[in-house]
Amino acid sequence: MTVGFIGTGSMGGTLVESFIQSGRLLPSDILISNRTRAKAEHLADKNPGLGIATSNRELVSQTSCFFLCVKPKEFRAVLDEIKEEVHEDQIVVSITSPVMIRDLEEWLPCKIAKIIPSITQAVQAGNSLFIPGSRLTANDREQLWDLFSAISRPLVIEEHHTRIASDLASCSPAFIANLLEKLADAAVEETQIPIESARSLVTQMAHGLGRLLTEGGFTLESLQQRVAVPGGITREGLDLLDEDVGPVFNRLIRLTHAKYEDDVVKVQQSLDH
Ligand SMILES: NC(=O)c1ccc[n+]([C@@H]2O[C@H](COP(=O)([O-])OP(=O)(O)OC[C@H]3O[C@@H](n4cnc5c(N)ncnc54)[C@H](OP(=O)(O)O)[C@@H]3O)[C@@H](O)[C@H]2O)c1
Repeated sequence: MTVGFIGTGSMGGTLVESFIQSGRLLPSDILISNRTRAKAEHLADKNPGLGIATSNRELVSQTSCFFLCVKPKEFRAVLDEIKEEVHEDQIVVSITSPVMIRDLEEWLPCKIAKIIPSITQAVQAGNSLFIPGSRLTANDREQLWDLFSAISRPLVIEEHHTRIASDLASCSPAFIANLLEKLADAAVEETQIPIESARSLVTQMAHGLGRLLTEGGFTLESLQQRVAVPGGITREGLDLLDEDVGPVFNRLIRLTHAKYEDDVVKVQQSLDH
């Protein structure tokens, strides 16, 4: 099966390389196209054997399953270009949260899935969010599940939970990196520890923390209990975090949801016939 990727920017490129690195797809199994051809050529130079289509229409005509890895505002142009070429048996996967499956099903006669990846898939880790459309058969779902299992842990979610699940799986690598950066910067400010040491300490800690939570038998709760001995320093630190940090995340989630609702409206206006 040849798998296509329309858009080889940050996430399209990450997915292509992750599927190749995982061994699940060979470069010769993949066909790519990108508005700026030089970007596709750069990816093909790094991954010899990768095919480049001369247009999105050509890509669609030569693949049984293809991904739409463009930004929400770029969907209309791509759909206008490919819609006459798409046929019922094809599977189209959108990786974009504010583009609704029902809109894609209205535009295209084929089978649709929304699968939201995360930067963590660059190292074949983290969840991908699996939202099957109404026309996918059990066999299609199995094929997509199998594909994404090579680079992630797929998780089925309801479409109305796309935003919150994306916050946790796709945005949180940036959110948590920001918190770790602030922790390291505060350490430098308060104690003058060299910044390289502070950043190394938090980065290596994060690596170990991830392993403890995924393969070390700890939960978020049991890990805190284990480190925070009664009357100890960590307990006092946790009490401060409980008081000050919790409300920030409520505000963060309200903010991402407000922006998302705005994006959904804009996308729907752009897709109106
Ligand atoms: N980045 C993440 O961590 C992440 C995570 C989950 C989901 N997503 C979703 O993935 C989507 C893409 O995000 P991104 O970060 O990869 O954006 P990006 O880096 O801007 O990539 C978009 C790519 O699409 C190409 N493109 C635009 N219009 C096109 C067209 N008509 N035909 C062919 N290619 C076209 C662009 O080409 P040019 O080279 O000409 O600009 C660009 O390379 C977004 O909807 C985002 O929500 C991203």
